[in-house]
Amino acid sequence: MAFTLPPLPFDKSALEPNISAKTFEFHHGKHHNAYVTKLNELIAGTEFEKLSLEEIIKKSSKDSKQAIFNNAAQHWNHSFFWECLKPNGGGKPSGDIAKKIESDLGGYEKFAKDFKEAAITQFGSGWAWLVTDASGKLSITKTANADLPLAHDLKALLTVDVWEHAYYLDYQNRRPDFVQTFLDKLVNWDFVAENYAGKTFKVAA
Ligand code: FE2
Repeated sequence: MAFTLPPLPFDKSALEPNISAKTFEFHHGKHHNAYVTKLNELIAGTEFEKLSLEEIIKKSSKDSKQAIFNNAAQHWNHSFFWECLKPNGGGKPSGDIAKKIESDLGGYEKFAKDFKEAAITQFGSGWAWLVTDASGKLSITKTANADLPLAHDLKALLTVDVWEHAYYLDYQNRRPDFVQTFLDKLVNWDFVAENYAGKTFKVAA
C-alpha cells in the first residue's frame, strides 16, 4: 500500500508564535512529506508493500532494513508528534494521567524537569518520549534519529521532536527554550490521556 501525508490536526499558523507557520511548511510539508515519499519508493514491489506502517517498522527493525526502518519510523514519529501538539496546550494535566505521573514519576514538576533533560541531552537528532511498558509503568526515554518506542516493545504516550528542523527557524540553536515552550504551551494532554487510557495510535495508509 502507498502511504500518504496526513494533514496537520490544526491550521499551520494555529501554534504561532510558539511554532511558526513557516516551520510547519518545512517540517510537515517538506521533511515529513519526504519520509512518506521515500518510504513508498522503498517498499514498492517488496514484501513490505502489503503491511501496515506499524508492521513495517517492527519487521524492518528486526531484519535490519535500515532505510525502510528510518523512513517508516519517521513517518510514524511525525504523525504522532502532530497529535501531541495543540493551541493553548501544555502545563499540568489532570485526571488519571496526572495521578499516574504523580505515582510513577514523582509528580508533574519532576516529570517536566526529567522530560526536558531527556530532550536536551539527546545528542544530535532524535526524540524524547513519555512511554508505558507492558506492566503499565510510565517512564521517560529518548531515542536517536528515527528510533522509537514501538521498536522496543514500549507504548508511546507523548513525544517531542528534537531534530534541528523542528525548532531551528523559530529558536535557532535554543533547543531548551523550544522544549520548555512545548511543555508550557503546546502539549495536547487530551491525546496523552487517550493513549494512556488504552487507545493505540495507528497511522492510516
Ligand atoms: Fe521532524
